[in-house]
Amino acid sequence: MEDKIELNSIKSYSNVHSNNENKNERRSMSLPFLIKLLLVCDDPQVESATQELLLPVKNLDLIIEKKVTFITEDFQVAVVVYTGDELQTISNLEKISNAGINILIVGDNLPQKLLRKSIQLSIKDIVPLSTAEVELVPAISEVASQLKTEVNLAPVVSIINGKGGSGASFIASSVGQIISNHSKDELVMIDADLQHGTLADSLNLQPDYYLDDALADIKELDATAIQSMMSKKENLSLLPVKAYSQINRLAHIDQNKISQLFSKVRANFKLLIADLSRGIDSLSIPILESSEHIMVVVQQNISSIREAKALVEQLHNIMGIAPEKISIIVNRYSTKFSTITPDDIKNTVGVESVFTISNDYQLASACTDLGKSIDELSEFKQLEKEFLIIAQQINASNIDILPKTKSLWSRLTGKS
Ligand SMILES: Nc1ncnc2c1ncn2[C@@H]1O[C@H](COP(=O)(O)OP(=O)(O)OP(=O)(O)O)[C@@H](O)[C@H]1O
Ligand SMILES: [Mg+2]
Repeated sequence: MEDKIELNSIKSYSNVHSNNENKNERRSMSLPFLIKLLLVCDDPQVESATQELLLPVKNLDLIIEKKVTFITEDFQVAVVVYTGDELQTISNLEKISNAGINILIVGDNLPQKLLRKSIQLSIKDIVPLSTAEVELVPAISEVASQLKTEVNLAPVVSIINGKGGSGASFIASSVGQIISNHSKDELVMIDADLQHGTLADSLNLQPDYYLDDALADIKELDATAIQSMMSKKENLSLLPVKAYSQINRLAHIDQNKISQLFSKVRANFKLLIADLSRGIDSLSIPILESSEHIMVVVQQNISSIREAKALVEQLHNIMGIAPEKISIIVNRYSTKFSTITPDDIKNTVGVESVFTISNDYQLASACTDLGKSIDELSEFKQLEKEFLIIAQQINASNIDILPKTKSLWSRLTGKS
C-alpha cells in the first residue's frame, strides 16, 4: 500500500517538472541514419544561414562547396542553392546528378531553363529561399526516409536500464539468443558497455575485434569485412567495446563515425540488438536515436521505477524519441514479494507497452556464468515463453521467428 502512495507521488512530481522543462527545450531533428550532405552555395550570407540551420541536425555530415568541380566523396544528398547564376547552377546540378546523388534546390524565382533541367534530372524538391528555414530540414528528412527503405537498414533494438544491475545485459543476451535460435537470419549484437561488457561471456564468445577497431577502420570497412571480423555464434554476431574504453580511446567519441559505422553494420544484418546497460552516454546516444524499439529494464521497487521514469523523460523530452518506441520490461517480476503490478509501473513511468520477465536466480546465473542460452537450458520453459513474447514484439517483421522444431536425430536421442 505504501508503495502505491509513493508511486503516485513520483508520477505527479515529475509531471510538474517535465511540463516546466518542456517550455525551455527545443528538440533537435535526427535523421534515421548518417547522411553525407553536400551544400553548394556561392553566397556567403545564405551559406552561413543554411549552415546554421543544418548544424543542429543529428546524423548529418555537412560539406560545403562554392561550386562543383569533381565529386570525389560518397554523398547521399546535395542541396544546391540558386542565387542568380543560372549557368553555373545547371552545371552543378548535372555533375551532382551524374554522381547519382539526390538533389534538393533552394531558391526563389527559378528561371524556366533551370526548372526544365530540374525536372529532367529528377530533382527531389525545390524549396523557396523564403521558406527554407521551415521547409529545408523536413525536405532533407523526407529524402533520408526514402533512402532508408532503399538500403534496407536493419531495425535497431536497444535494451537500457534506468538503474544499474536491473538485468539489461541478461535480457539483451537472452533475447538475442532466442531470436537467433528461432531464425535463420543474420543478427548482430552491440555491447555498448564502455566499462566492462558481459555479452561476450554470456554468449560464450572470445572476441578479438572490437567497436574501437571498427571505428579505426571505418573508411575501408566493407560488407565482407564487417561480417567476417566479428566473433560469431551461428547466425548471431557480436561487436563489443574494449573494456575501460571510457578512459581510453573512446573517451571522445566521434558521433558521426559511430553513425557511419552503424549504417554499415545495419546494411549487412537483419536485426541489431544493443546492450546499453550503462544508460545514456556518448556511445549510446546515436544508437538510441536510430532505435526502432527502446526497452527500458526496470525492477519492482520504488527507486528502480523512479530512475526508469527519469530515463523515459530524458528520452522523450530531451532526445525527442517518440513514446510509442519505448517499452518497459519488468525484470525479476514476482507476485510473491511485491504488490506493485506491471500496470502500476506502466502508469507511473508513462509508457504504453509493458513486458515481464520472472525472477529466476538459478537460470540467470547459469546463462551468465556458463554462457548458455535459455532454450539450451530446457527446464526453464516459463522464461523462454516470456522472452519469446518480447522477441515477437521487437522483430519488426524483419526476421522470421520460426517455431523451433527438433531434428529427427534429437527426437530419437532425446538430446536438444
Ligand atoms: N530475471 C532474473 N532473475 C534472476 N536474476 C537475474 C534476472 N535478470 C538478471 N539477473 C541477475 O542480476 C544480475 C545483474 O544483471 P545484468 O548484469 O544483466 O544487469 P545490468 O542491468 O546489465 O547491469 P549493469 O548496470 O552492471 O550493466 C546478474 O547477476 C544476473 O544474473
Ligand atoms: Mg550490463
